[in-house]
Amino acid sequence: MNTRLLVSDADNFRVDHEINPYMSVHDQPDRDAVIGEHAAIVDAHRDAGRRVERLSSAAECPDMVFTANAALVSGDTAVLGRLPPARRDETPHHRRWLRHHGFEVHEAPHDFSGQGDALPCGNLLLAGHGQRTDRRMHGFLAERLGYRVVSLRTVGPRWYDLDLAVAVIDEQTLAWFPAAFDGPSRDRIRGLGLDLIEVTPAEAGRFALNLISDGSTVTMTDRAPGLAEQLRDRGLAVVPLSTRELAKGGGGVRCTALTLYPAIT
Ligand code: ARG
Repeated sequence: MNTRLLVSDADNFRVDHEINPYMSVHDQPDRDAVIGEHAAIVDAHRDAGRRVERLSSAAECPDMVFTANAALVSGDTAVLGRLPPARRDETPHHRRWLRHHGFEVHEAPHDFSGQGDALPCGNLLLAGHGQRTDRRMHGFLAERLGYRVVSLRTVGPRWYDLDLAVAVIDEQTLAWFPAAFDGPSRDRIRGLGLDLIEVTPAEAGRFALNLISDGSTVTMTDRAPGLAEQLRDRGLAVVPLSTRELAKGGGGVRCTALTLYPAIT
């Protein structure tokens, strides 16, 4: 789980469009600082023994550092994201990289935020809708990739992607922020029979859940000490990382890596 990751770089990261409520064109990232933040995240993945693949960012793509939205990848199959108009120039780069690396690439028939709204947990796929992903994508993902899909609706633009509202810690454990979901979705999560860790509203708003766990090491923002402590209490190693500059794009650790998941068994 999360042992092979596709990352880009922060060289071209800037706020040209306010496409989520955390972004302001008046609050631009400091270039050197964000490049440093990104490099530290990549180093942490390598230190945890994860294999990191690279896709260089393009000058015309200010959000390309957030590779999670590129696609959902499972085995040798990838379903490309269908991104908001301000990010559509990224897709030819994603398509080319995936094809060149031997993936069978499927186009999304509806709006789709890629792995930002599609988090595998074993053979389950936690799949978001209500913001950037059209619910009709869920059936498409089940059919193409074989997952059992759990449809989850997030309730406002602050939760524009599912990976801000829930995190897969291991196949038995999720961390989540219940108020980010509508009632039926909350019930669906509680009904999964998984161990559930709750985060506070303040930490959820600081992208606590935008983390990457491989089941033993959790790489996450340093702005969520409460969640970090809960994870350590469960025997996980926590690597807290600065995400202050990346947060100006409305993203964090999880957003900067597309996991190349193994096919489901
Ligand atoms: N500024 C980017 C956008 O709004 C951030 C994407 C973060 N990605 C994520 N998986 N949550 O598209």
